[in-house]
Amino acid sequence: MSKQTLDRILQSQGFGTRKRCQQFIHAGAVTIGGEVVRDERLAIAPEGLEFTLDGEVWTYRKHVYIALHKPANYECSRKPSHHPGVLSLLPDPFRLRDVQPVGRLDHDTTGMLLLSDDGAFIHTQSSPKHHVPKIYIATTHEPVTAGLLELLLSGVQLHDEPAPLAAVHCRMMDEHQLEIILEQGKYHQVKRMLAAAGNHCVALHRAVIGSLTLDSLGLGEGQWCYLDEAQRALLAPAAL
Ligand code: URA
Repeated sequence: MSKQTLDRILQSQGFGTRKRCQQFIHAGAVTIGGEVVRDERLAIAPEGLEFTLDGEVWTYRKHVYIALHKPANYECSRKPSHHPGVLSLLPDPFRLRDVQPVGRLDHDTTGMLLLSDDGAFIHTQSSPKHHVPKIYIATTHEPVTAGLLELLLSGVQLHDEPAPLAAVHCRMMDEHQLEIILEQGKYHQVKRMLAAAGNHCVALHRAVIGSLTLDSLGLGEGQWCYLDEAQRALLAPAAL
């Protein structure tokens, strides 16, 4: 990989304008290999670079791929109106490097949310052509019945959809809880499907995307982690 100057590397990682990054460097806030670097023109191959800024350790990443365990009462919107935005749960530089949620979860939905600043990744993950199964756990107001599961599997008509939408799979977990697998990501889809089938969703949690389970990441609510290549490979549609 070609070399870049230190100020541009810091800028690419979301630490502010080039001028701001130069100020950090001149102030002695940046170290590489334990040494303070005060030369903003220092040319380095950024791949794998570890540095500290104000004592915090960072590794250069061309793009970031993040999984967040979204708590309730956070909005996925970039301009949240009623609740704090999910980006407020991440370090500041991520906002400046334009990290965005991949699709949306409702403000009251909990569970796995992907975020990235890689446009191609966001596009692939959110494209309806890319049939990534997502597993939701829905808590219902009325008891879960065999009839409800049958309806969800055979398809329910939502009023603004041209054709009925069906779950790929669904099963009862207990009297008021079911697991539902969807491949589409329509607006409020689980809640609207449950309502159209005569029940009401009182809580919703996304547990799995593709074959990547939230449990495997060991994240508490509000916590996040980087996804490595092997974990990202699990986000692909299941092999047929
Ligand atoms: N379906 C919903 O109804 N809400 C979500 O947040 C996700 C899927």
